[in-house]
Order: sequence, then structure tokens, then C-alpha cells
Amino acid sequence: MHQEHYQKTFLVTGGTGFLGSHIAVRLLEDGNRVLLLARGRKDCNAFERVRRLLDWFDVEEGHRSRLEVLEGDLEQPLPGINVRDAESVTERVDEIIHCASDTSLSARKREQVERTNVKGLQNLLNFVQESRCRAFHLISTAYVAGKAGGLCPENFGWVEAFHNVYEETKFHAEQIAAKRCAQNGITLYVHRPSIVYGDSTSGKTLLFNALYYPIRTLHYFQRLYTKDILENNGKKAKEMGVGLNRNGKLHLPVRIESLDASGVNLIPVDYFVRAFMAIRKEIPEGGVFHIVNPRNTTIQQLVDYTERFFQLAGIRTADRSEFINRPRNGLELLFENQIHAYGSYMRDSRVFENSRTAAFLAKQNIVCPDFDYDIFELCMRYAMDVDWGRLLYPEENTTCVKKSPMDTKRFSHRKNVV
Ligand SMILES: NC(=O)c1ccc[n+]([C@@H]2O[C@H](COP(=O)([O-])OP(=O)(O)OC[C@H]3O[C@@H](n4cnc5c(N)ncnc54)[C@H](OP(=O)(O)O)[C@@H]3O)[C@@H](O)[C@H]2O)c1
Repeated sequence: MHQEHYQKTFLVTGGTGFLGSHIAVRLLEDGNRVLLLARGRKDCNAFERVRRLLDWFDVEEGHRSRLEVLEGDLEQPLPGINVRDAESVTERVDEIIHCASDTSLSARKREQVERTNVKGLQNLLNFVQESRCRAFHLISTAYVAGKAGGLCPENFGWVEAFHNVYEETKFHAEQIAAKRCAQNGITLYVHRPSIVYGDSTSGKTLLFNALYYPIRTLHYFQRLYTKDILENNGKKAKEMGVGLNRNGKLHLPVRIESLDASGVNLIPVDYFVRAFMAIRKEIPEGGVFHIVNPRNTTIQQLVDYTERFFQLAGIRTADRSEFINRPRNGLELLFENQIHAYGSYMRDSRVFENSRTAAFLAKQNIVCPDFDYDIFELCMRYAMDVDWGRLLYPEENTTCVKKSPMDTKRFSHRKNVV
């Protein structure tokens, strides 16, 4: 296969995921060839899943012709692809971008998360070792900082304690990649984004977790109790202290625990992709890169935005001590239960050191936008348009949709929406 028509050949894992698909599309648009590792699902093979994604991105035919889908699974040796394909990939691939990951935060899923994030990485690194590839990009997370407070360094420093199995396995994956790449003369890039939301110019996203999840929970309450008020005299709403106020807004008595000077570190996916592309192109020696927002968004800001957009009232932030004096009401318990896993990201006082990356990105004119109301509104409009991901692919066979434990028809939670 001649490569002179292409810029470069990349192997991208996690091709059906949020960041993997955005990176792959950008590489194609830049004239590269992309080999995309993707899994099939029961009633939806990898090729069909990728086709839907390309339609969602509106990728031109010319670019699609430079994409090859490799149906595979990182839990297998040779990432599950057949030997002939594997040989051809090792001969052609210039750079590998490893986006695949199990992003579950649940302790119950420990074994699965370890299999994907640690064993899967090892399988991939065995494969890389046999290939002509000399640059390996690991998409990690700023949260490998774990429970370390204060300033989190932009290096491979040791961390002792983590909030969850996701952080822990991502940390170990970094350590393994650093060792193996050094042994094999492969340049390693560790990209550490904070929490990624949709596109800051269109609001489009493929994933409705993290930032979206608490807001989606409040929106779920809104739909549930509005229906109850309209159709059932508001019996259930009254029991929860929910009702319409004088301005016709739904009053949800929900206090959200918040710490002073804490908040959520949010970056839009378009910023992440631009930063990633510039780092890979312009920093040949590799390294560790915090791709983060210099400013956290406070919980109070998110509450204000949510009340304004959804026409809600009664939600407010509260200090931990307030819950000791006045324990959580029924609605607050429901809310807290839903968002429990995200607690450490919502009340985050960690600061991600990134002076080197920030200076480099600023020179390239790549600046993280503030998460202001205009961007919030764009993101929520999109979330509403696609019903939190349920309508992303209108022609989708419903058997391709993952259902959540708290699923109702209205609240199906698809972690990986494609
Ligand atoms: N999104 C964020 O806010 C964020 C923030 C910081 C860091 N990150 C990091 O960025 C990377 C991408 O995250 P994301 O948000 O794009 O997650 P995502 O949408 O959940 O995508 C994860 C991808 O990994 C694939 N995958 C999981 N297990 C696999 C296996 N055994 N074999 C092959 N593929 C497998 C999934 O395939 P299926 O579709 O088949 O499940 C999916 O394509 C991850 O490493 C994550 O840790 C993300």
C-alpha cells in the first residue's frame, strides 16, 4: 500500500467513543489515513456503528475513503483483529492514538475496568512493539491525580489514593506506558483532559455523562413532577415538596453540596481536539500534557444556568454543615444517589498545573473558552433536541441502545451512545 497520497497513517482505538471519533474525523479531514479499531455490538457490527458516526459528523465521501474499520477488542491479543490484518497494520501505522477505555467509576465493575484499561493497554503495547510506529498517544485523564489535593503536577509523579477504579487504572496505565515506551524507543504522549463536554460552537456531543448527568437528573425530576401535576393533581409532587411557584416555574427543593473555591473543570471537545492536534504535531519529544480549563466552573454557576434554562426554582448550593443540621429531604436523597459517583468532580479543589502546555497552546492561539451561559444553552439545546442521546441516530434499531439501571422510557442512559 503506497502512503504518498496520505499525510500519515494512524491507528485510533476507541473509534466509536466520544473523543476517539472526534480525533479520527479531524485526522481524516487533515488528509490522513485512519485505521479505526471498533467493537461491534450484538445487533450492530463495528462498520455500521462507524458509518452512523460518520453521518453524524457529516464526513465527506472523499475523507471516508481514507478510513479503514478494524473490528476488534483490546481484551484480546493483537487487539482481536485477524493475523493478516494485524501484519498489515504493523507495517503501515505511523502513530497510535489510544482512546479506548472503560470509563465506569463503579467499584462493582473493577474487574472489567482493569481488563480494559490495564490489560487492554498491555495487549496494544505488545502490538505496538511489533510495528513501525514510533509515537504512542495515550489519552489519559487529569484525574490520575487521584485524591492528591492542591496543585497536581504535569508529570508522572506517584499517587497513593484514588476516588475510584477509573482513576486508579488510568494512573497504572500511564506508568506501564511510560516504562514500555522508554524500553522500546517509542515517543510517548500522555494527554490528560479534564471533563470534556460538547462542541462550544454547536453544543453537539455524543456523550451525556459527567457535566450532563446531574443536570439531566434535575430535568428528569422536572418532567416527572410536571406530568404528575398536570395529570394526577400533583400528589407525588406535593409529597416531595415540589410545586409550581407564582411565576409558573417548577420549584424543586434541592440543596447541592458545594465547597468554597471548588467547582468543575470543564473543556469543550473542539478545544480538546485542537490542543491534541497541536501537541502531536509541534512537540516531537512527547511528554505529559494537562489539557484543562484555567478556571473551574462553580456549582453555583451551574445551578444558575440550569434554573434559567429549564425555568426551575428552588435549587441552591449548601455547605456540608447544613446537611448535618438539616438532613437531606427525599428529593435530595434521590439526587445525591444519582450523582454520587461524580461527587469528587463536582466539588473539586484540585488545580492542574499546566504552565508549559498553556504557554504552548497560547502561542498557537488555542485558548479554552469560559463555560458561560451561552455555551451552556447551546449544549442543553442539543441535549434536548436528541433527548440526551436517545435520538442521536434517528434510524437506529432500538436493539442497539444500551439501557441504564434507572432506565425508564424517558431516561435511558447510554454511556457510549453510538
Ligand atoms: N470524555 C471525557 O470527559 C474524558 C475526560 C478525561 C479523559 N477522558 C479519556 O478519554 C478517552 C476517551 O474517552 P471517551 O469520553 O471518548 O469515552 P467513551 O465515549 O466511553 O469511549 C470509550 C471507547 O472505548 C471503547 N472500548 C472500551 N472497551 C474496549 C475494548 N475492550 N476494546 C475496544 N474498545 C473498547 C468503547 O467502545 P464501545 O463503543 O464498543 O463501548 C468506546 O469506543 C478515555 O481514555 C478517557 O479516559 C475522557
